[in-house]
Amino acid sequence: MNLNDAKKKLADLGQEHLLRWLDELSDTEQESLLDQIDALDPTLLDVFRSYKGDGEAARGKLEPLGALTLNDIAENRERFENAGLDAIRQGKIGAVLLAGGMGTRLGFDKPKGMYNIGVNRPLYIFECLINNLMKVVEKAGAFVPLFIMTSEKNDEDTREFFEEMKYFGYNPEYVHFFVQDMAPAVDPDGKILLEEKGRIATSPNGNGGWFTSLVKAGFLNLLQREGIEWLNIFAVDNVLQRIADPCFVGATLLSGCDCGAKVVAKADPEERVGVLCLEDGAPSIVEYYEMTDEMITRREPDGTLSYNYGVILNYLFQVSKLTDMMNDAMPVHVVNKKVPFVDDAGVLQKPSSPNAYKFETLVLDMIHLQKSCLSYEVVRNYEFAPVKNPDGVDSVVSARALLQENGIEI
Ligand code: UTP
Repeated sequence: MNLNDAKKKLADLGQEHLLRWLDELSDTEQESLLDQIDALDPTLLDVFRSYKGDGEAARGKLEPLGALTLNDIAENRERFENAGLDAIRQGKIGAVLLAGGMGTRLGFDKPKGMYNIGVNRPLYIFECLINNLMKVVEKAGAFVPLFIMTSEKNDEDTREFFEEMKYFGYNPEYVHFFVQDMAPAVDPDGKILLEEKGRIATSPNGNGGWFTSLVKAGFLNLLQREGIEWLNIFAVDNVLQRIADPCFVGATLLSGCDCGAKVVAKADPEERVGVLCLEDGAPSIVEYYEMTDEMITRREPDGTLSYNYGVILNYLFQVSKLTDMMNDAMPVHVVNKKVPFVDDAGVLQKPSSPNAYKFETLVLDMIHLQKSCLSYEVVRNYEFAPVKNPDGVDSVVSARALLQENGIEI
């Protein structure tokens, strides 16, 4: 894009300030800034203009969706597990590690997976995940292809770390990295921020774009060539994460559902988790702040909460359904976060509280694009130890305790 076109685009969008430091930039930096302006997606600014705060989205008719409970699963474990192990041995199952997030709440400046959760020995978050996946590999006698989504901000560090750690014993031939897209951040007035005088402040555009990014990186051919029919998507920050869990895989495949979601029974009615339910007859996830009091307290005849099952970011999607829905629009969420920026005096500011808004699509919205979803209950303390914060709820401290509870030396 040339300077005149950039000026015109920015004037139309009310973002002329992005060129304010142009004279101080080298030729290469100027060229790079013009490219960034060219790549700006104006629709995100429209999204921001119509943003009214959390819970803004209008919802359809919400109804409870039960789950395949722990008891149901125990009664069928052998049948489910055998079906899952067969699918893994036939190479039909791949796994996708979502590791493109910034992990701002943890406040660790490297990729979250590089965080050492160990106390008396080094035990990295990535290592916990690979150890869990290796258990499946050993049981099945077959490697599960693992796709790792990074972002521009952490791709190099992540790849180097896996190399340095020799993939924690995983076969590197089965590990494939791909980089997700970025989106600009805006201040409360909708002005796009600069993180350097010649660089727009961008951050990863949420975990909902993972399949599009996987395809963009050229991996659809590999999926089709290798006959990978299902992908197990999971978050980097749950150190007890069971990946390609044969029982879950088998139960989902045998259920005939379009997709599967691991869920945990709520610890209490008020717990702040997204709950798997039905929206206009299709599976959907309702956030805690979108639930009415009636929904929060409603109970089934057997006494269990009607909206009882919280998602833990572990889903099984069918590749054919994902390719069908690739062009379907996903809602863009606006989130308030801390974003470093260059201020009016040209000085870099590192805010200590949320100062800006980012744009994200979310993997949970992909669930609503499926016709049916197997809600699959897991034991919370055995499968869910999220590391979001340094201490308190969902933290390094709580995750360490849960690792120990599960007999893992830390
Ligand atoms: P979170 O919602 O916890 O976001 O991500 P985050 O960016 O990692 O952390 P905070 O909110 O800044 O503290 C849930 C999962 O989705 C991945 C994360 O890496 C994590 O596995 N994710 C999130 C992406 O892969 N890309 C994104 O753009 C956002």
